[in-house]
Amino acid sequence: MPQKQDITILAIESSCDDTAAAIINNGKIRSNIVSSQQVHEQYGGVVPELASRAHQQHIVPVVDAALKEAGVTKHDLDAVSFTQGPGLLGSLMVGANFAKSLALGLNIPLIGVNHLDAHVLAHFIDGNNPRFPFICLLVSGGHTQLIKVNSPSDFEILGKTRDDAAGEAFDKTAKMLGLPYPGGPVLDKLAQNGDRGRFKFPDSRVEALDFSFSGLKTAVLYFIRDEEKKDANFVEQNLNDICASIQHTIVSYLMRKLKKAVKETGIKEVAIAGGVSANSGLRAAVTELANKHHWKVHIPELEYCTDNAAMIAQTAHFQFLEKNFLTQEAVPFARIAK
Ligand code: KG4
Ligand code: ZN
Repeated sequence: MPQKQDITILAIESSCDDTAAAIINNGKIRSNIVSSQQVHEQYGGVVPELASRAHQQHIVPVVDAALKEAGVTKHDLDAVSFTQGPGLLGSLMVGANFAKSLALGLNIPLIGVNHLDAHVLAHFIDGNNPRFPFICLLVSGGHTQLIKVNSPSDFEILGKTRDDAAGEAFDKTAKMLGLPYPGGPVLDKLAQNGDRGRFKFPDSRVEALDFSFSGLKTAVLYFIRDEEKKDANFVEQNLNDICASIQHTIVSYLMRKLKKAVKETGIKEVAIAGGVSANSGLRAAVTELANKHHWKVHIPELEYCTDNAAMIAQTAHFQFLEKNFLTQEAVPFARIAK
């Protein structure tokens, strides 16, 4: 059981289709529970209305499980934190309402966490300690950014996507190949048995450190259409090679931009974060670049790549130390999505 001077925070994440809760005690994660929603699979993507309903069903048991696993009760909590945005509004509202009510009932501070900050600050979980400033390539289902991280609360966006996110590029091309949602991890698995040099797809010519993935999406669409005109079984018979080639195109493009960011800033402390940082090709490529160019590289544990509440808890811990709290009145639900 924690001592009274301890800082114990409950964190709730409900921005998309995972209901998650975690407990952090004095900066150490004590529990990290995720309940993933299967209901969306049959629709080939997240259905917002079904997501918020599922969050309502899962949030109490998930929070209970997080408290239990950490060996604490709600009376040991010093603050309640939640994902404030970005995300699906209905889903965010479930977490925000729950956190707000619990904090009010216990008369303890309420902490609103930005989901993207949390993906980046997941690198500080379990005593890991990247040196500031570091360059973080944030690649998730909704965002793709290159960030210069100056401190836990000072992020400089160096570049971002102009259309789709890297995760969407994986999911949408996977869908074209007939793979189930979310396609990213499935495509990754198939790619591991494929020849990544077999098919060539263009990447984008967007300038500077910005990204664009819409050209790749169109190229894959036409490629499949043209090849299937000649042979109806083309995709089925060449699936692993197509997956490997798509993955290689996305990963090489991300690495080219990351290299450029390192060159321009002179910062050789580098991290990757977000769901796509679970990708085996990306993890291998960034490790290879780091060895070649003598970067210090930070790759998150797999459980901290995709959405989780431990990263919200870690960020909330930093915000607690800075007394960065929300007042109860400061959470008008219509404006919670940043
Ligand atoms: O960070 P995240 O869990 O949720 C958002 O904040 O969006 O990222 C989810 C994204 C999805 O697009 C998913 O397909 C992708 O991360 N993803 C992967 C892999 N695992 C998750 N993409 C490629 N390879 C993977 N192994
Ligand atoms: Zn995320």
